[in-house]
Amino acid sequence: MPPDKDQLRLQVEKVSNLPTLPGIVTRIAEMVDSPETTGRQLGREIAKDQVISAKVLKLVNSGFYGFSEPISTIQHAVTLLGFNTVKSLVLSSTVLDLMKDSLPGLWEHSLACARTCSIIAGHIELDEQEEISTAGLLHDLGKVILRQTMEREFRRIANYVDRADMLFYQAEEKVLGVNHGEMGGWLLEKWALPPKLVEPIVDHHDFRPNRDYAENTAILHLADILCRAQAFGSGGDRKIPRLAPSALETLKLTIDDVCEIMGRMHEELRDIPRM
Ligand SMILES: [Fe+2]
Ligand SMILES: [Fe+2]
Repeated sequence: MPPDKDQLRLQVEKVSNLPTLPGIVTRIAEMVDSPETTGRQLGREIAKDQVISAKVLKLVNSGFYGFSEPISTIQHAVTLLGFNTVKSLVLSSTVLDLMKDSLPGLWEHSLACARTCSIIAGHIELDEQEEISTAGLLHDLGKVILRQTMEREFRRIANYVDRADMLFYQAEEKVLGVNHGEMGGWLLEKWALPPKLVEPIVDHHDFRPNRDYAENTAILHLADILCRAQAFGSGGDRKIPRLAPSALETLKLTIDDVCEIMGRMHEELRDIPRM
């Protein structure tokens, strides 16, 4: 019997108190949510932590946002990207480290997915493109939470993946009654990140065309599958999830468009290892 969902949610919401998420992350989240905080104050607070600042700048300059000039200060990043994007970047920079430490290949998969989201968003000329690459970076956050906080359940899930040759998310649903999309969403909601970012992450294995942010979800759903089909990093299992045809319809993409997107991935993701 899967555990009680509310209990599980409480357990996930406590993740932000783990020592692996440094205090600065929570402090920045609080500052972003306060209407009194100015861009200068926020920039100064982030800049106090040199490790996080360097990681945030690295992400800002890694091609997701398409700036023609390199961004060299946190202050500049805050002005250009806005509070919420910077907040999710601070979380991403921390989570990426956890990914590297906890699940082999997940970091590479997430980077590939973030860049593929940008490629698709550019292809369909999506209006607002800031959140979409962050959604790609954070979409499998739930797997990190699972690995970090539920050792026993994680082992049972990995066992199903190995022995029954299941998709990771299907094994999660069997053991826990929820998949990592929803679990990641619980933490991101607690962080008060915008629904435009949270909903696609929650739904990335369960695309539904009638949802509020279906276009962003369709991009993420497609990007995740394309990255797995081409083995950029690892999603934790050997299978490729099925593509929902309605996601292509939502994005008005033909098979020729998808081939063109895959061609660009081939060019632009050369530095990401295939596994
Ligand atoms: Fe996933
Ligand atoms: Fe994924």
